[in-house]
Amino acid sequence: MGNLVSPEELLCQAEYMKKCEDILKSNFSNRQPICYVHSYGCQGNVADGEKIKGMLAQMGYGLSNSAEGADVVIFNTCAIRENAHDRVYGNLGMLIHYKKKNPEMIIGLCGCMVQQDHVAKKIKDVFPGVNLVFGTHVIHKLPEFMYNILSGSKKVYNIVDSDGVIAEGLPVVRESKFKASVPISYGCNNFCTYCIVPYVKGRERSRSFDSIYNEVKELVDSGYKEIMLLGQNVNSYGNDLDSGVNFSYLLSKINEINGDFRVRFMTSHPKDATKELIDTIANCDKVCNHLHLPVQCGSDKILKAMNRKYTVSQYLDIVDYAKKKIPDISFTSDIIVGFPGEIYSDFQETLKLIKEVKYSSLFMFIFSPRKGTKAELMYDPIPKEEKSKWLTELINCQNEISAEVHANCVGKIERVLFDGIGRTDDNMLTGRTDTNLVVDCKRANLKIGEFADVRIIKAHRMALIGELV
Ligand code: 5AD
Ligand code: SF4
Repeated sequence: MGNLVSPEELLCQAEYMKKCEDILKSNFSNRQPICYVHSYGCQGNVADGEKIKGMLAQMGYGLSNSAEGADVVIFNTCAIRENAHDRVYGNLGMLIHYKKKNPEMIIGLCGCMVQQDHVAKKIKDVFPGVNLVFGTHVIHKLPEFMYNILSGSKKVYNIVDSDGVIAEGLPVVRESKFKASVPISYGCNNFCTYCIVPYVKGRERSRSFDSIYNEVKELVDSGYKEIMLLGQNVNSYGNDLDSGVNFSYLLSKINEINGDFRVRFMTSHPKDATKELIDTIANCDKVCNHLHLPVQCGSDKILKAMNRKYTVSQYLDIVDYAKKKIPDISFTSDIIVGFPGEIYSDFQETLKLIKEVKYSSLFMFIFSPRKGTKAELMYDPIPKEEKSKWLTELINCQNEISAEVHANCVGKIERVLFDGIGRTDDNMLTGRTDTNLVVDCKRANLKIGEFADVRIIKAHRMALIGELV
């Protein structure tokens, strides 16, 4: 925890926020300036985006849901696969069009994508309309960057290479009034050979137990019903702290906080998923019976090439232990299809594994070579069309499994936290069970942001239908 941003630095940034506020008051005498912040990619990025919004709101910006007409637009980018890059470049084109109508518009890019040198260079060369580019290790300095721009700098580029820092106490505007994400660690030490994250987010660093605990307590006290603990690998939480706390301890202490709420977490690296963790989930009533446990592939040969540090049999051991200890537990996972060196028989082992685990749902991706990773340089002879066929086969197989998992819920009573209006029917609300399954239910007396017990009366492939009990 030696890499905390100092209180002096945070104070200095708070002063920049005040200075920005003063400039904005004189620049916008008839209306409030507005900003639009969009985060691509993982929930960690969304959590960073909430802090970016928090800082901009403190400077005096109102928040908009659209880039059109905004005075500041910030894209918080993702680098995990090529299509994440493509989306940002596509949307940047649209922003440049808006900027023609409003030349004063400030366009900012931050996050994982711009942390890569080749991307920062491309932005400079191809998108001169972008005013502000800042990397993943300096988000807390946004007030200073904004001050520089508001006081006349045409461009601010700040991308430092760093093992990473932790900035506590930044202002935050949360997307939801009842579901909150709480990062418990940042960065990653695992260097899976396909993955860009360790290069762009720095080394793994855990927030202190007290900071996390106090944040969760405050959220629960102010009425939040679901807390999502976030980290690239929550299971190695605390390894870098001197205090001796680990993830299971953190979960059990959060479980003791008074209040009607539930706790989720992601992501669990299988190599660090212990029986202690499973026992903790089993013993903690507020910790949800759901494990997102990305397996990536069902072939030991490919897992080794991915540097995942577990075998299929070790993975299944922990899954079996969890199924015995927590009979209604549900599993989800990430799968990469077409990793370099993977042949059809390896892929069939993935199919075998998903049939055995019976995941409720899967995130499935075709391997995307990332610049600077080991896998980028690996021999990869299988054509994209072949990989796409495998992906389709995987999706079809998982669809059947998802249908079976959902069908098995019919007749059960589930506690659901409702979080939105039904996707196909305004008279329905949608929510999630403790096991993270989607349930749609007639609106009746239900309220968004509240729990209710429902009986599952019907199952679709990816969602359940319930009725209030
Ligand atoms: N190509 C395809 N999928 C990837 N993921 C990470 N890196 C890549 C890549 N280069 C997937 C993994 C990971 C999830 C967040 O994204 O499955 O668990
Ligand atoms: Fe990437 Fe592996 Fe770290 Fe996950 S554990 S962020 S896949 S390097």
